[in-house]
Amino acid sequence: MEILAHAKLNLTLDVLGSRPDGYHDLRMIMQSIALADAVTLKRREPAGVRVYTNLHFLPGDEKNLAAQAALRYWEALGKEPWGLEITIDKRIPVCAGMAGGSSDGAAVLRALNAMEGEPMSPLELARVGERVGSDVPYCVLGGTALAEGRGEVLTPLPSLPKCWVVLCKPEFSISTPALFAKIDSVRLRCRPDTRGVIAALEAGDLTGVARRMYNVFEDALPSHRRSRVNDIKNILIQCGALGASMSGTGPTAFGLFDDEGLAQEARERLADFGGEVFLTQTV
Ligand code: C5P
Repeated sequence: MEILAHAKLNLTLDVLGSRPDGYHDLRMIMQSIALADAVTLKRREPAGVRVYTNLHFLPGDEKNLAAQAALRYWEALGKEPWGLEITIDKRIPVCAGMAGGSSDGAAVLRALNAMEGEPMSPLELARVGERVGSDVPYCVLGGTALAEGRGEVLTPLPSLPKCWVVLCKPEFSISTPALFAKIDSVRLRCRPDTRGVIAALEAGDLTGVARRMYNVFEDALPSHRRSRVNDIKNILIQCGALGASMSGTGPTAFGLFDDEGLAQEARERLADFGGEVFLTQTV
């Protein structure tokens, strides 16, 4: 079975506080985009799950979220695991704040459920995903959604009006656990207007959403990293983006465009700037 694993962007990301379980309570608005990994599942002998990708440094065993998702799925179903070969054509940048690994895990849950004859509902699958990673439940359901709690408390929102997205992942990566650890000691100067974004989504107001996008993790980046992310955002805005922000714990920054020509110009300008650059759309 072949399936697409879509990347996500954070239209907003707010950290409400740390929790006794070591995680943080979050409030964030998530959006799926067309940029996706291609995931293929094949039954095989002998038993055991193996993951093959086009990126040599990614793990092929249970450290890969795709393999973990398969094992958690059979566990939840009370079934013996099959022999399974998962092949992932990675297109979503890795360690970029776009939930690439979580999305691969979510795609495996959806594909295995289809191969088993759909014994679980999408919501049940999302609950299985909680055991794989905080972003996996959202990645199972996708679309435009408010994510709270650890990220697993999901409320569907009206879809973001269709638009073009230009995104750039600079050459460096950010460690998610390290940035979460740092955020506790950072005085947040600014918080996203989550309610304002929800009201703009309800009104179908793309500009209203784009102008209010904000991610508190931008304040927690080391200053040289932050200035690089700001450079990308400035180029996007200069090229006509309606708004620009960072996704997840970064470092990918993106802009929303209502004009394809302007989005193409932004992609070209950013290609000269370095990093991985994509022009894609919301889904
Ligand atoms: O759940 P996941 O394994 O994706 O989380 C990776 C790390 O990100 C956690 O170990 C934790 O350090 C941090 N995290 C957090 N609060 C969340 C989600 C993730 O502190 N809500």
